[in-house]
Amino acid sequence: MAMTGNSGRGGFSNKLGFILAAAGSAVGLGNIWKFPFEVADGGGAAFLILYLGFCFILCYPVMVAEITIGRHTNKNPVGAFKALKGGGFTIVGLLGIISGFLILSFYNVVAGWAFGYFLEMVQGNFGIGQEFGSFTANWQRVGFYGLIFMAITAFIVSRGISGGIEKAARFLMPALIIMILGLMFYAFTLPHAGEGLSFYLVPDFSEITFDVVYSALGQAFFSLSLGMGALITYGSYVSKKDNIVSSAAYITLFDVGIAFIAGLMMFPLVAYLSEGDMASISGGPGLIFVTLPGVFESLGPVLGIIIGSVFFLLLSFAALTSTVSLLEVPVAYVVDEWKIKRSAASWLVAGLIFAIGVPSLLSYGASASLSSMNVLPGVEGGVAFLDLVGFIANDTFLPLGGCIISIFVIYKWKRKNFDAEIEEGNPGFKGSFLQKYLNITLSYIAPIVLAIIFLLTFLNLYFGITLL
Ligand code: PHE
Repeated sequence: MAMTGNSGRGGFSNKLGFILAAAGSAVGLGNIWKFPFEVADGGGAAFLILYLGFCFILCYPVMVAEITIGRHTNKNPVGAFKALKGGGFTIVGLLGIISGFLILSFYNVVAGWAFGYFLEMVQGNFGIGQEFGSFTANWQRVGFYGLIFMAITAFIVSRGISGGIEKAARFLMPALIIMILGLMFYAFTLPHAGEGLSFYLVPDFSEITFDVVYSALGQAFFSLSLGMGALITYGSYVSKKDNIVSSAAYITLFDVGIAFIAGLMMFPLVAYLSEGDMASISGGPGLIFVTLPGVFESLGPVLGIIIGSVFFLLLSFAALTSTVSLLEVPVAYVVDEWKIKRSAASWLVAGLIFAIGVPSLLSYGASASLSSMNVLPGVEGGVAFLDLVGFIANDTFLPLGGCIISIFVIYKWKRKNFDAEIEEGNPGFKGSFLQKYLNITLSYIAPIVLAIIFLLTFLNLYFGITLL
């Protein structure tokens, strides 16, 4: 295993290896499955603008903070806060580990769907788009796919950092991008592409309600793998020679770029299938699963099967580099703090998370009571258990984690220590504009804005109280 100066825990072989692995963590179902339906449900371009603003203004500094904490301490999130004498702040590390459990528990179910769709496409079953509901309701089958997915994830994590995670990310990302770009150009040629693009790119600000704001914020954190210590953990394998601020900039640009082109691909396709009637599109978690098979069918039987199966295969791989990072967080914790061997820890934690994911697995049709739960006063109608976990983890825990991490680096760890760690591998940082920008955002903007949105989200989602 390649080392980069970290004490025996393994490390990325070089800067590019780290960027690719972190980008592999960031790019996943969040970009290609979740982002388009969140945009659709959030009214189109208005959501997009909020999302972009949150990613670049708030999330990028939080990403720098996470990687810096990780590299400085060489530890998992809980160990990192302890090492920096974080006191009560250590709770964020724990919150991160719980978020990792929750997110992976439902994420793995959706990854199982993607993998199942790959198998359907191989057989040329384009009708599966219309049967999405019965597909997900067949819990034995999708449960089996989920089990395979979790096992592959556990296997990769058990092999450690440069052995498994890095190698997987190296060639899958470029392949996925080429695929999305190809489909995007195809989508541009279809009838009604213009209506789809204007829904996606021309904002109607009257669409912005508070739930659009918090969904965009939750999506920004989720998509960038932030707020739960995934990047503290990955940062702990980064070399002192690397430039953290530029690495974080590449990861952010890459992740946001892929989500953006996924939208450019999806909305013309949706417009094509709905004959330009964007008001009628039903978003929700089924969006890509319902829409894409019909599009692949339009390519003709041979091309349709090839493109359709490659697409869902690559989507499964993109999900895999994310599930690996989600599992890595609790596994690093167990390995570091409980001194359990990496391989045993990986299988144990993966098994536990799979078990926690069973209600999510059953909540898309298999169990009526789990499929529509009236537990969130802030959400109209019932929510599926799988979505409920998303509301709790993505929209509440991650931004809260980001808020506390910002406060921690500046006020507890102290700005000068934080800056000194960034300067390693980046001598020009001192006195730069970026230094001022990061300091101002992490000292004031991120804590205040994130705390306000967190409080309003909490009241809105869980108590149905809307102040804005
Ligand atoms: N960012 C991943 C995605 O977009 C999901 C993820 C969230 C991974 C949090 C790690 C931590 O699919």
